Amino acid sequence: MTGKLRIVVGSDDAGLGYKTALAADLERHARVESVIDVGVGEGAHTAYPHVAVAAARLIASGAADRGLLVCGTGLGVAIAANKVPGIRAVTAHDLYSVQRAVLSNNAQVLTLGERVIGIEVARALVQEWLRHDFDPGSPSLAKIEAITFYEETSCEGQA
Ligand code: RB5
Repeated sequence: MTGKLRIVVGSDDAGLGYKTALAADLERHARVESVIDVGVGEGAHTAYPHVAVAAARLIASGAADRGLLVCGTGLGVAIAANKVPGIRAVTAHDLYSVQRAVLSNNAQVLTLGERVIGIEVARALVQEWLRHDFDPGSPSLAKIEAITFYEETSCEGQA
């Protein structure tokens, strides 16, 4: 565990309950410098792509370090966040995948599905997520760089 993190959180209405609970956990965590909430708020019905892209843009711009996004399945917010250049967002509903999302994939965004896992599992996954940092000296770096290369060449280049 190294530096403190600025974490952007977001959800659609299907993920609002978990986002609220998980944001409160983040606010109390020693590793968290700040929590930025991009919505939705109570009674709002913004569709998940808009929230996910808003969160991802904050990370891509350097205003946040990581993102935690929740929708019904976690899938839609991941797909949308991944449309923002430089963002690697993954849905991970088990401890090992959460670890590897950081250590292998250097994913900045974790997405969860409120309709898929229980709240205590979600809370444990977020605690695990905060324990790990990508090691730029690891063999995984070359694979991340290959992803970036394909992104920057619209998958037309040969890495
Ligand atoms: C509800 O709109 C549901 O489709 C959404 O929360 C999410 O699960 C999409 O991937």
